[in-house]
Formats: sequence, C-alpha cells, structure tokens
Amino acid sequence: MPSSASTNPRFYLMTEDILPNVLIIENQSYPVGWSEQIFKDCLDEKQYISQVLKINETIVGYYVVQKILDEYHILNICVAPDYLGKGFGRFQLEVIQKSAESTFINRILLEVRASNKVARKLYTSSGFHIIGKRKGYYPAHDGREDAHVMELALF
Ligand SMILES: CC(C)(COP(=O)(O)OP(=O)(O)OC[C@H]1O[C@@H](n2cnc3c(N)ncnc32)[C@H](O)[C@@H]1OP(=O)(O)O)[C@@H](O)C(=O)NCCC(=O)NCCS
Repeated sequence: MPSSASTNPRFYLMTEDILPNVLIIENQSYPVGWSEQIFKDCLDEKQYISQVLKINETIVGYYVVQKILDEYHILNICVAPDYLGKGFGRFQLEVIQKSAESTFINRILLEVRASNKVARKLYTSSGFHIIGKRKGYYPAHDGREDAHVMELALF
C-alpha cells in the first residue's frame, strides 16, 4: 500500500455531503448497489460506524459496520475501482477488527455473495469462516443469489 506523506490514506466519518461520490463507487462496484437512503440511514453514529478512506480528497474506499450488542456486522466494505488490488480492502478490514478488539466486541459477522470470490478470499485469509448460507439472499440481474454468512470470533 502507498505510504508517503501525500499518498497516506486516512479515514473520515461518512457524511451526507459526500454520498454522491460514494454512490458512484457503489454503483460501479456491486451488481445491485445500495440506494442513497440506505447510506443515509447508516450515518446514525449510535448504531453504525460509517467511514470513508481517502487519499487527499479522493475516496479510495469505505465501510459500514453495524454495532449490535457485542457484535460487529460488516454491512458494506468497498474499494473504488481504480484502487483495487492495492491492499485497501485488507487495510479497512484490519481497522474494523482493531476497533472491534479495542471495544471488546466478541465477533464480527458479514454476508458475502457466493460468487464474490475476491471478497471471500480476503475474508478467509483474514480468519473468517462460513457459519451459514442464506438462499436467494441477494438480488441479482438474473434473479437471486445465495449469501455466505461468515464469522470472525475475537475473544
Ligand atoms: C472485496 C474488496 C473490498 C477487496 O478490496 P481490495 O483492496 O481489492 O483487496 P486487497 O488488495 O486488500 O486484497 C485483499 C485480498 O483479496 C484477495 N484479492 C484481491 N484482489 C484479488 C483478485 N483480483 N483476485 C483474487 N483475489 C484477490 C486476495 O486474497 C488479497 O490478499 P493477498 O493480496 O494477500 O493475496 C474489493 O474487491 C471490492 O471493493 N469489491 C467490490 C465490493 C465488494 O464486493 N465488497 C465486498 C462485499 S461482501
């Protein structure tokens, strides 16, 4: 990952004014992306941690985590198309994990499309394992697609 002073990535709170830019990346990245309203709902800091990763003024990625009791649910984690494969996905996942550990979260959960081999590889190589499958969970262009439910146990 680039790390000189001008290319050092930094996290910022996701805010309503940058949602148009987030939505562009979202629609480039997912077969069926989130709506603006879903992102708006996730700006509620009592329930969610929603952050964007920027290099200077450019959004290179973002994530949304829901806090439920002693669990983190990763609802969205995404890297902008021009920045894929440079370690920013793993970096975001590591930051989420560190945040969870520092707040005594017991486990991190997520759902991933069965066909999303890149994300599944990232999660598996980070210690996540499959704890269940949800049939037809995701909308897809040609119907529905299964989700794999994955867990990382922390304590
Ligand atoms: C999944 C995603 C976040 C990964 O981000 P990324 O920055 O490209 O990934 P990284 O560069 O950090 O790579 C992390 C791991 O992913 C896997 N990976 C990354 N690119 C890959 C590719 N082209 N082919 C296969 N595996 C790949 C590798 O296991 C890699 O680890 P390694 O470099 O140690 O081998 C990114 O592909 C993305 O935003 N996809 C669209 C949105 C999405 O599907 N989000 C996940 C929803 S569950």
